[in-house]
Parts: sequence; C-alpha cells; structure tokens
Amino acid sequence: MSDSVTLSGDSMEMLPTLDAETIQCCVTSPPYWGLRDYDHPAQIGAEPSPELYVENLVAVFREVRRVLRGDGTVWLNIGDGYARNGGTGGHGPNAIVGNTKKLIQKRNCKVPEVWGLKDRDLLGLPWRVAFALQNDGWYLRSRITWIKKTAMPESVKNRPTTATEEIFLLTKSPTYFYNANGFREPSGANLRNYWILGPEANGNGHPAAFPRELARRCILLGSREGDIVLDPFGGSGTTGLAANELGRTAVLIEINPDYAKISRERTRIVQRELHISVGT
Ligand SMILES: C[S@@+](CC[C@H](N)C(=O)[O-])C[C@H]1O[C@@H](n2cnc3c(N)ncnc32)[C@H](O)[C@@H]1O
Repeated sequence: MSDSVTLSGDSMEMLPTLDAETIQCCVTSPPYWGLRDYDHPAQIGAEPSPELYVENLVAVFREVRRVLRGDGTVWLNIGDGYARNGGTGGHGPNAIVGNTKKLIQKRNCKVPEVWGLKDRDLLGLPWRVAFALQNDGWYLRSRITWIKKTAMPESVKNRPTTATEEIFLLTKSPTYFYNANGFREPSGANLRNYWILGPEANGNGHPAAFPRELARRCILLGSREGDIVLDPFGGSGTTGLAANELGRTAVLIEINPDYAKISRERTRIVQRELHISVGT
C-alpha cells in the first residue's frame, strides 16, 4: 500500500531534510505571483517584484534537483498575470479571487520596475520562470498547455479571457524516465501537448487546487508503481491523492497549516478507500 506524508512548513526549509536522489517525479503548482495571500511570511508569490519571485522559485527547484533521481522529471504548472497600477473593487488587480479574502496586490499594485514592464503588460511569468530554470541547469523538455474547460470569469473587453495555463516538463538529465504508454490519446497516438481539463468540484476549501486528472497524467507519464512523487507546494494534497491512487508514495510540503491539515484529511479518506478496495 502506498503512503503519503504532508510536511507542514516552508519548502526551502523542508526540502533540505529529504534524502538526495530519492524522488522520481515532482508535480507541482506554485502560487501565482502577487495574486492570493496564503497567510505566511515565507510564502512564495508575495515578493515585492516578479524578479524576486523567479529567483525564489529557482532556489526551491535547485533543492528539488538535489532530491530528484538522475532520471527524474518535474511537471511545473504555473500561471501568468498582468502588471497593473492601482485599482480596487470586484474586478481588476485587487478583485477578490475565489475564497481568498486578502490580496497581496493590495500591497503590490504598482507596476514593478523590471523587464521594461508597463501598466497592463502581460508578465509572461511562466516562460520567465522556465528560462531561468533552464539557465540554472534544468533541461526544458516540453510545454503542455492546460486548456481550462471553465475559465475564471474576467470582466475584460479589450483582450480575450485567459483560459489556459502552462505545464513545463523539466528534467535533470538529457535522458530520463518517461512512460509514453502511461497515458495516450484516445486514438492510441502519443499524447499531445494540450490537455483540456477540469475544474473539479472537490469542495476541499483550497482556492487554487488543480484537477486530480492533471496530476494523474503527469504521474503516469513520469513514474512507476512504488516510486516517490513530490509536491513542494502541496496545497490541499491533490498530487498526493493521485499518487496514492496510482500506487506511488507521495511527499507533500505545505506552508499553511490549515491547508496541510486539509491535505492530511483528504489523504486519510483516499487511503481508507484504497484499503477497502484492495480488501485489507
Ligand atoms: C497553487 S497552490 C497549490 C494547490 C495544489 N496543487 C492543490 O491542488 O491543492 C500553492 C500552495 O503553495 C503554498 N506555499 C506557498 N509558499 C510556500 C512555501 N514557501 N513552501 C511550501 N508551500 C508554500 C501555498 O500555501 C499554497 O497552498
């Protein structure tokens, strides 16, 4: 029976406690820069500039590289945002997002003085992070576009509504474990790099959980039964649930103790269901 552990704390402090070269596959979605407040002084995403956000993510993933096996993979889901000046209310940079009450942008709603950004510029953060990781030694092997079946409503009239996010496949080495048969197109063809998915009504109380199917696909492609899967931004524990259901062990790290608790509770429920279904 596969296990799951949710460590409560800052990834930068918890990752160094894990043994080197033990993780086969990392599936994760860090906070967007400047969007939600996860209510912790060491949270990623609350940096005063997006440049610092990129630097912090590079530092976290340097630790991920240490714990990743030589043939391991990282599946990094990351969202973009806009440089905006001011604004409050139901729309725009300071709108309430999901069930998150406080917005970091209340503190940070000035266009940052980096990269020649101007008011209303798309930040391009997913690619900036991907290039920074590539520059730090990672192999950037694929960009998968997650097409959201239901997009977050935006009251915009001067551009299309955003309904996609990126998932980057990064590796430690030029050759790595990738099971192309782990998940294929319904036609039997090799999986394509756009996934039309979710959202899932899981009622887990986390404002930014990704669909379990997203994690499931990454795990099927990037690991074998019995392997260890990591999520350094564990949230409500979706990666752990998918990993356990597929017979993998999961290590999750979550800085907000309330979400860490939700993660452990969801894991317990899945574990119980798995025990029942295998008759133990
Ligand atoms: C986008 S959410 C992840 C959601 C998750 N994929 C799920 O399905 O529930 C990002 C999470 O990272 C956590 N986080 C932020 N900074 C962190 C840090 N330095 N170390 C560990 N977790 C952190 C936040 O509290 C938040 O729950």
